[in-house]
Amino acid sequence: MKKITKAVFPVAGLGSRFLPATKATAKEMLPVVDKPLIQYAVEEAVAAGITDMVFITGRHKRAIEDHFDKAYELEATLEAAGKTELLRIVQEVVPKHVNCIYIRQAQPLGLGHAVLCAKPVVQDEPFAVLLADDLIDGEPPIVKQMVEVFGRHQCSILGVQDVPRAHTGQYGIVSCSNLEQNIEKVHGIVEKPKPEVAPSTLAVVGRYILTPRIFHHLENVQPGAGGEIQLTDGIAALMLEEQLLAYRFNGIRYDCGSKLGYLQAQVALGLKHKELRADFAEYLKTVV
Ligand code: G1P
Repeated sequence: MKKITKAVFPVAGLGSRFLPATKATAKEMLPVVDKPLIQYAVEEAVAAGITDMVFITGRHKRAIEDHFDKAYELEATLEAAGKTELLRIVQEVVPKHVNCIYIRQAQPLGLGHAVLCAKPVVQDEPFAVLLADDLIDGEPPIVKQMVEVFGRHQCSILGVQDVPRAHTGQYGIVSCSNLEQNIEKVHGIVEKPKPEVAPSTLAVVGRYILTPRIFHHLENVQPGAGGEIQLTDGIAALMLEEQLLAYRFNGIRYDCGSKLGYLQAQVALGLKHKELRADFAEYLKTVV
């Protein structure tokens, strides 16, 4: 029985939809209330029992490494000032038993290529992939739900949700048949189909559990949609060899790669934040 101990975070993207905010900083460092997007994703992986976080980074992404590193000067300053609560928050960004590993993706050749960059670390183990700009609020956290499904089925699993047909061109879209409650057997997957040719409206949103055989296929796929090495195309090839499942997760997803989704996440998580929720709710009543 295989266990998932590694998570891959592709974080080399340019974040062009958020310019100028992302001109000099990583889009994954944009905060929702008081934590950067990438920290939500790492916390989700930690909650699923994952211990090795593999970040596929690029130029202008140093802030991510610094965020998960020890901050000696900051910690010393907070300690000297007696700000113990802030010191605890800074020190607990990543738990002590978790390893952070960074691999540079030298060229932006696509999501599939980014995942392939993790091969030297992941080797022959099944692993999770989390796209940090899909912030998903769920209990238990989504990757934990998917690890549980993996425990029973021992195969690759895609996190999916229904989207409006007009939006299929933004996602990998699956065709499938029902296997059990919330779990579909995938028969086909296509990257960003136009609404009129999309095989369904069931979209892959940034959570995957993949078997290591995916690396073989990513090494062989040709550039697809947008001229990029697409993870979706690698998964389509994998599906011809191994069982592939789609899991309708239990949770609310915020597309923080879009400005509207990002604002929705701020409001929703602001209304759940223990220090802010009462005052923020009062404020919202005055503006809507
Ligand atoms: C990527 C994947 C796509 C997936 C989406 C989820 O697209 O290529 O299959 O549905 O993430 O957010 P991107 O949003 O990077 O264009």
